[in-house]
Amino acid sequence: MTDRRIVVTGGAGTIGSHVVDQLLDAGAAKVVVIDDLSRGRVENIAEALERAPEKVELVEGDIRDIPLVKKTIAGADAVFHLAALRITRCAAEPRVALEVLVDGTFNIIEASVEANVEKVIASSTASVYGLAEEFPTTERHHPYNNDTFYGASKAFNEGMLRSFKAMHDLDYVALRYFNVYGPRMDAHGKYTEVLIRWMERIEAGQPPLVLGDGKATMDFVHVKDIARANILAAQADVTDTVYNIASATETSLIDLARGLQEAMGASGELEFGPERSVNAVPRRLADISAAERELGWKPTITMHDGLVELVQWWRSVKGNV
Ligand SMILES: NC(=O)c1ccc[n+]([C@@H]2O[C@H](COP(=O)([O-])OP(=O)(O)OC[C@H]3O[C@@H](n4cnc5c(N)ncnc54)[C@H](O)[C@@H]3O)[C@@H](O)[C@H]2O)c1
Repeated sequence: MTDRRIVVTGGAGTIGSHVVDQLLDAGAAKVVVIDDLSRGRVENIAEALERAPEKVELVEGDIRDIPLVKKTIAGADAVFHLAALRITRCAAEPRVALEVLVDGTFNIIEASVEANVEKVIASSTASVYGLAEEFPTTERHHPYNNDTFYGASKAFNEGMLRSFKAMHDLDYVALRYFNVYGPRMDAHGKYTEVLIRWMERIEAGQPPLVLGDGKATMDFVHVKDIARANILAAQADVTDTVYNIASATETSLIDLARGLQEAMGASGELEFGPERSVNAVPRRLADISAAERELGWKPTITMHDGLVELVQWWRSVKGNV
């Protein structure tokens, strides 16, 4: 990354802002964030802007804006593409999702070809698997069990990247993140994560509200570990491929809620409510051996340490809304 000029789409978001921090750590010469701030926040990159004002630039704009995307990517050595809408918003507004996740991604890829970008690192998702048929799930698992518009868009993005590698030799790596958590999760918006809602309830002396029977499992991975996977994917001698990024550990919602209570110094009963309708996948468990072998990546932050850090961060920012 040393002396490289990097563009990070969605760089003011949860994961993108950690990618920005780690790009600075890795010695990047210039990091240009393009983000429309529809969900991301300038606060997320405030530290980076303060730490290296000459290196970090925020372009407040939309990846649907083709001239702006081309201008921003011109001269870039690498592009980290993270801008996207949440799965719930994709279900509520599929046409907007089509424009942002599909057309927007096309704009990024096309501009990257024109700018002779060395590599695009794209954010994909475990949602492409839907409810998997095999556990642990490898990257070779088929995508036909996905029934979400979000997962369909991401699967198409992976296909678009493959086709541009074949047509224009654009190098890329796509990373399928499983369940992401950590500091800078959206604590403010309409599509706020379940962990944030639980922290609010626990802090107010209420039990966390678990949707469904709580036995559904997820494969949680800390946002800083995900950011590190992005940097390694750019550095490793790999292209035209996709990796699962997860902890390879199943955690039930009940265990997650209890772990959060413990991290907040609370205890007591949980409360249960109706299952949510979008993406109610009952089990996730990734095989991450390809990322370990080919990227030299594995998760380093335990669930307990990650939850304690999340709580500390949330307590420090929650008064600012
Ligand atoms: N958080 C997860 O659990 C998870 C899991 C799998 C994959 N992902 C993927 O990882 C990437 C980053 O996710 P995140 O959790 O950091 O989400 P996030 O919402 O925090 O970040 C996305 C960023 O994109 C920006 N954005 C949205 N639409 C835009 C547009 N039209 N133009 C410019 N910027 C736009 C938002 O303002 C936000 O800052 C996304 O591609 C997401 O699909 C996330």
